Amino acid sequence: MKEKIPVIFIHGFPLDSEMWEEQVQYFKDGYDVNCPDLSGFGKSKLDTPSEIEDFAKYIFSYLTKKRIKKAALCGFSMGGYITFAFYELFPEFVSALIFADTRAAGDSPMAKEKRIEAIKMAKIYSMSYFVESMPPKLLSEESMKNEKLVSKVQKIISRQKKESIINALKAMMDRKDRYSILEKIEVPTLFICGEKDILTPPEEMREMSKVVKDSEFVEIENSGHLSNMENPEKFNSVLCDFLKRL
Ligand code: MLT
Repeated sequence: MKEKIPVIFIHGFPLDSEMWEEQVQYFKDGYDVNCPDLSGFGKSKLDTPSEIEDFAKYIFSYLTKKRIKKAALCGFSMGGYITFAFYELFPEFVSALIFADTRAAGDSPMAKEKRIEAIKMAKIYSMSYFVESMPPKLLSEESMKNEKLVSKVQKIISRQKKESIINALKAMMDRKDRYSILEKIEVPTLFICGEKDILTPPEEMREMSKVVKDSEFVEIENSGHLSNMENPEKFNSVLCDFLKRL
């Protein structure tokens, strides 16, 4: 029997592995699906302090524990920053890359200011600040009318730990600009982005894909930033077509 291709889904901020529920259901029979909670998120304990590179090393130790020698990495947003760092550190362990609603560049000065503000808010209001403020950034206006989806996103956010959120904000703020990695990517690469993503807009992702040799870019309609949760049917079918070709 042919061995199943390992796929590692790396979640975004301030979420955990449950964001990939629809992908787990869809891909679990055909692929070796892995959805780790990053350290400090979901059911995982925080190893402080963690930089983006430490999260990449955390994924590497996950692979080692599972004896996975090569995997397709699918990183969403913050998970994408970690995927870039992983590819920089451990390229020989990567068979394909999927970047969903993310960017290779580092934080702009304005983005850094927003992180500092968010850290302050986390210290004062803890997770309630993120439960209120994040959904309209993560979801399109249309998706914000989907009460079930909004409450699922809020439920995931509300169970995260303040310390982990502050740690991740610092890690993202200090992360390296990895735009120069794009032209060094030697594996098949897929860029996916929600058409109404206001955090990591499709135009920016399309430009990134032009720099990567063997790559394609697909826009997901009816979706904001959280494309895999807002339009899972389209996200899964695009990812499925890509994985089939590996
Ligand atoms: C995410 O979805 O992981 C975050 O929006 C990433 C970020 O804040 O840069």
